Amino acid sequence: MRKMIDIDFGSSRYNELVELRYKILLEPLGLKFLDSFRPEEAKYLHIGCVEMLDNRLVGGLILAPADDETIRLMQVAVDTVYQGEGVGRELVAYAEKRAKDAGYKKIVMHAMLFVVGFYEKMGYAAEGEPFDEQGINFMKMVKKL
Ligand SMILES: CC(C)(COP(=O)(O)OP(=O)(O)OC[C@H]1O[C@@H](n2cnc3c(N)ncnc32)[C@H](O)[C@@H]1OP(=O)(O)O)[C@@H](O)C(=O)NCCC(=O)NCCS
Repeated sequence: MRKMIDIDFGSSRYNELVELRYKILLEPLGLKFLDSFRPEEAKYLHIGCVEMLDNRLVGGLILAPADDETIRLMQVAVDTVYQGEGVGRELVAYAEKRAKDAGYKKIVMHAMLFVVGFYEKMGYAAEGEPFDEQGINFMKMVKKL
């Protein structure tokens, strides 16, 4: 059994989520998590998926307010052994509900090209052309809530 949770900035779950984001997203790209980003993250919504059997954080994401109507979905990460089991879909669905309940009208994101198909399945539409950032190819994607 899994459950989706809101994570408080600075809590031990938050540190677990930072670790997971590093392991799944940053480390494979040779990037570091910079502690200087932490203060900025106080303004974000942090969301996780917990496996209730062992209380482990198996996935998570962050939502960064862009303006009154728009929130940015970032760093969706599912632990390798749990990928392909619906955790990503459940996380994104929960994040959309949280964003909508908080009054946002639109989610935007930059998806790495190889995960565009995942977001299309979740109802996101590609906008514009793919672009390159530090050697990684991204596509801007949007969804109205
Ligand atoms: C991409 C990721 C978040 C997806 O989460 P997941 O839990 O593995 O995906 P789910 O099991 O919820 O998949 C939901 C659906 O999307 C599909 N899907 C999953 N990954 C996909 C991909 N890379 N491309 C296309 N479709 C994909 C699944 O097949 C499934 O389809 P179905 O409904 O027809 O069965 C996860 O695999 C991950 O963390 N990957 C590594 C990090 C990463 O690339 N994050 C994205 C940063 S922008």
